[in-house]
Amino acid sequence: MKSPQSEPSASPTPAARPVVIAIDGTSGSGKSTVAKALARHFGFFHVDTGSMYRAVTWHCLQRGADCNDTAAVVRAMREMKSEFRPISGSIVMLLDGADPGEALRSEAVTQNVSLVARVPEVRTLLVAEQRALVRFGSLVMEGRDIGSVVFPETPFKFYVDADPAVRAARRAGDGYADQVTRRDQLDSTRKVSPLVMAPGAFFVDTSRNTQEQTTALVLAELKRRGL
Ligand code: DC
Repeated sequence: MKSPQSEPSASPTPAARPVVIAIDGTSGSGKSTVAKALARHFGFFHVDTGSMYRAVTWHCLQRGADCNDTAAVVRAMREMKSEFRPISGSIVMLLDGADPGEALRSEAVTQNVSLVARVPEVRTLLVAEQRALVRFGSLVMEGRDIGSVVFPETPFKFYVDADPAVRAARRAGDGYADQVTRRDQLDSTRKVSPLVMAPGAFFVDTSRNTQEQTTALVLAELKRRGL
């Protein structure tokens, strides 16, 4: 996969060292909502790394690659032309110059993404791309391995979870009928960078919280940790 240099960025912190807030957790836990709220609060860029794994999956499917076939996935990935661009406060991965947008949320992508995300070559490449995004400035990055693998040195890390029934209902409320527990099982048991709570991460259970309560809880912890 080639990654041409992105267009000039509007870095919010050109002089200071960029800050990274890592938000990991299960599907439907509410981590996206809290990540976006934090990005707005601090004026940092929001990065959804799940979309990056979805983009590779979408590209594989477009090329007719069988996502169970590791060699085919790696071949398709190497032909991918990606770049990153800040769009409305988020850093978005473009494929062939365009944002695949809602196509990344299709059922076919959702069903295959855990297969693609377990391929070591895919993870190596995307983790390197994710680390390099600090060139844009400070980030709120959400995913599964941000506090454990991508930015283990950040002191600002959170693990967000909720009861499986609550998570399934949230996904259904968002219009998706995916099997969150099956996906989490695949994500948690894969060999490379499984979904785990990183050492030093602050655990947030959103089952009985409103979005505002969760954001307030995380902001209070960030303050306690010196942000
Ligand atoms: O957050 P999401 O549902 O859009 O993520 C899609 C898939 O990508 C999910 O099944 C796990 C995988 N993923 C990952 O392995 N590592 C990340 N940092 C982010 C997502």
